Amino acid sequence: IMIIFLLSLFSFVSGEIAFRINEKLSTDPQFYEQWKDLISIQDRQMADHSEDLFHFSSLLHQLKTCPTVRTLSDGINNLRVNDVAIYADLGHLSTFCNHNLTRLNNGDLDSCGHHSSSSSLPTLDKMFRVFSPNLTVINVHRKHGESFVNQVKAITERIKEIPGYEEKWKMIFMLPNIQDGEASETGQAAIEVLQGIEYLNDNFPQKTFIVVLKSSGKGMWKDASHAHSACLTLLDRWKKYVDHNSEEVWEQVKIIVEKNFQNQQFTVEILPLLNEGALAQLPNGTDLSSLGYDCAHWSERGLSLLHSSLWTSILSSLSMRTKEYRPLHTTPKCPEPRCPFIRTSSNSAVCLWSKVEDDLFPFAPQYIAVAILSVCAILCFIVMLFLCREKEKGQLKKEKAFGSNLSSIKFIDDDS
Ligand SMILES: *[C@@H]1O[C@H](CO)[C@@H](O)[C@H](O)[C@H]1NC(C)=O
Ligand SMILES: *[C@@H]1O[C@H](CO)[C@@H](O)[C@H](O)[C@H]1NC(C)=O
Ligand SMILES: *[C@@H]1O[C@H](CO)[C@@H](O)[C@H](O)[C@H]1NC(C)=O
Repeated sequence: IMIIFLLSLFSFVSGEIAFRINEKLSTDPQFYEQWKDLISIQDRQMADHSEDLFHFSSLLHQLKTCPTVRTLSDGINNLRVNDVAIYADLGHLSTFCNHNLTRLNNGDLDSCGHHSSSSSLPTLDKMFRVFSPNLTVINVHRKHGESFVNQVKAITERIKEIPGYEEKWKMIFMLPNIQDGEASETGQAAIEVLQGIEYLNDNFPQKTFIVVLKSSGKGMWKDASHAHSACLTLLDRWKKYVDHNSEEVWEQVKIIVEKNFQNQQFTVEILPLLNEGALAQLPNGTDLSSLGYDCAHWSERGLSLLHSSLWTSILSSLSMRTKEYRPLHTTPKCPEPRCPFIRTSSNSAVCLWSKVEDDLFPFAPQYIAVAILSVCAILCFIVMLFLCREKEKGQLKKEKAFGSNLSSIKFIDDDS
């Protein structure tokens, strides 16, 4: 019954988004032409990215070659990707739209609500799983129009079903865009995020690491509006929201978070990745292949590219985090050897930890002691040998000195 309920919920979701665009498509012939042009450009560009196959298929493989560091250090500032046991993400930037030109042309519009973990391309849950094979991924179906805080509540319930959840490290990515808020002072995305953080802090005060992707103003969507007239029309309805998504409010949220929600058991990192984010450029125009057909969500490709940049961001110290996101392929980043943790403001300033020797060499200290002793013994031996030879040489010299007088002739005679 639960499954049937979820399924009907899901078809309701897909119906909702599709309905609005379908309505526009059937009532506005000019928009219809523009939109057809948009989806065919996206289709062509997706096909043109021949480098995708290589990058996407090798990404997880490359992460597998990252060296693992064993450490006894504990606490939020020494959290390794290997320690994460529960993963969740939420917000409109955590889902993607499927792109199937045939279906789109037939008016069969996708929901754009596909969860990142259902992607066939690398996403954060898969990257964490490389390091933490027993990772639990929380995947809650979202009702369309469901508030951000309600999504947080749904995730909270699911996490509480996991045995021993208090003692497990929980990693929660909040990836909102303007659609996660309302066009009002109190309902804007930044405030929703803050309420979500408060709710999680009440429920999971222990072992919780929250990453927030800040997306103030229009962000990347300014680019999308400029790049295609269909996007301009599609994004028009979010105009009012943009006015209520100011940088100032996000700054205030940051200050509140630093004061109240950063301790040894619970922390929030706000990533500036999208501060100066923009779409990638191709020789003959803007690359729209990272966006979904609604211009507001990601395509499967765009979601994967974002996730790999998020991965790089959380493993980079504060000063090294990029603010200029572009949906392009990047080299997958390993935890830094000097500070192999998920970076916080604290461990970006000072990174204190101690390494544990690898299990493969459990007697490593003894081996080292034996090695040092052997080296000492050999050294002693060499020194002794050297001293003895010096002594011999000394004798030879004496003999030579001795032989330099007349009686040396006698020695020469003896030798021959
Ligand atoms: C697109 O959808 C059509 C109709 O459902 C299906 O036959 C086709 O295989 C799909 N194409 C791709 C690339 O998935
Ligand atoms: C992962 O789970 C399996 C079986 O549930 C268990 O045997 C294994 O020890 C677990 N690994 C870790 C690292 O917890
Ligand atoms: C851009 O150029 C490539 C080849 O150079 C072509 O395949 C593609 O269709 C062009 N894209 C657009 C939007 O014209």
